[in-house]
Amino acid sequence: MTEPRIERCLPDGFLADSLRADALAGLTASPKSLPPKWFYDERGSELFDKITLLDEYYPTRAERAILRDAAAEVAAATRARTLVELGSGSADKTRLLLDALRGAGTLSRYVPVDVSEAALITASRRVLDGYPGLAVHAVVSDFEEHLGLPDGGGPRLVAFLGGTIGNLLPVQRAAFLLSIRARLAEGDALLLGTDLVKDPAVLVAAYDDAAGVTAAFNKNILSVLNAELGADFDLDAFDHVALWDPAAEWIEMRLRSAYRQQVKLPGIGLTVTFGEGEEMRTEVSAKFRRERVQAELAAAGLAMRSWWTDEKARFGLSLSVPS
Ligand code: SAH
Ligand code: AVI
Repeated sequence: MTEPRIERCLPDGFLADSLRADALAGLTASPKSLPPKWFYDERGSELFDKITLLDEYYPTRAERAILRDAAAEVAAATRARTLVELGSGSADKTRLLLDALRGAGTLSRYVPVDVSEAALITASRRVLDGYPGLAVHAVVSDFEEHLGLPDGGGPRLVAFLGGTIGNLLPVQRAAFLLSIRARLAEGDALLLGTDLVKDPAVLVAAYDDAAGVTAAFNKNILSVLNAELGADFDLDAFDHVALWDPAAEWIEMRLRSAYRQQVKLPGIGLTVTFGEGEEMRTEVSAKFRRERVQAELAAAGLAMRSWWTDEKARFGLSLSVPS
């Protein structure tokens, strides 16, 4: 079997160092928080894939439906030779884009970029198997530090699907879009998936499913700290919380301490106290309106050329180009 080429863009120890720095900063802040990128060890990536199959979790199905309808148009508009996918995960929906670009006869290289090496390797092997002749150059990276966008091989289509942009805080989001724009050349394009504002009951159910898969995904961040920092978080001592913030227009996931407790994190020399009922934010998942997506893209120097939604207008997909 041909193995995918895996490139590691970050300096040795970078991810381990940034996990330590994020845990130290987040657990000593008030209120406490952890960045969501640390959900995705092997088990976290598997749990996310399970989430995408839940009845309550509509974004994946909605985005797939849009891609089914729009992928040929994206391929015709971009004529991309290189497809770069940020936060590629299982790269399942990506097949619709790969098929369309191959159908248009332009595609020669796929570059998945993800912080989760396990997910990246599994997905890259599947794509290699399914698309003989396609060059697959996987990049292990934190896309906020190093985008992983290869030079040359244009036109390049950068896809950022799933609504993962909503997991960045507004300031991070603006910086991230600017960094993408700075790396795009004339002829390149950005395909961006954004979940849309809707009935809060639908949103909350998507992040608090009846089977408890999202709860397990949320608590997995504690398992990551246990494994990487020798911490002694008791996962049963925290409850999953998902709430809609109408002012920020985002879903917030939190972990609520069931009682007052101390947790040791030898890897960062920290002992941290959680009060009874104290909540720690683990993720925001921003929901958008078309105007906001367009305005944020424009602020980064990107002009929206196309906008698609599914038939229930639950999810939006936009194609933009350097302005
Ligand atoms: N694009 C897929 C997966 C979404 S899950 C989909 O639409 O279903 C989010 C993915 O982004 C995960 O695979 C996670 O590992 C990755 N990710 C999250 N933060 C990241 C970061 N800062 N840098 C690189 N990848 C990141
Ligand atoms: C990856 N990201 C877009 C997911 C989301 O919906 O914000 C992560 C997730 N969190 C809970 N469920 C899924």
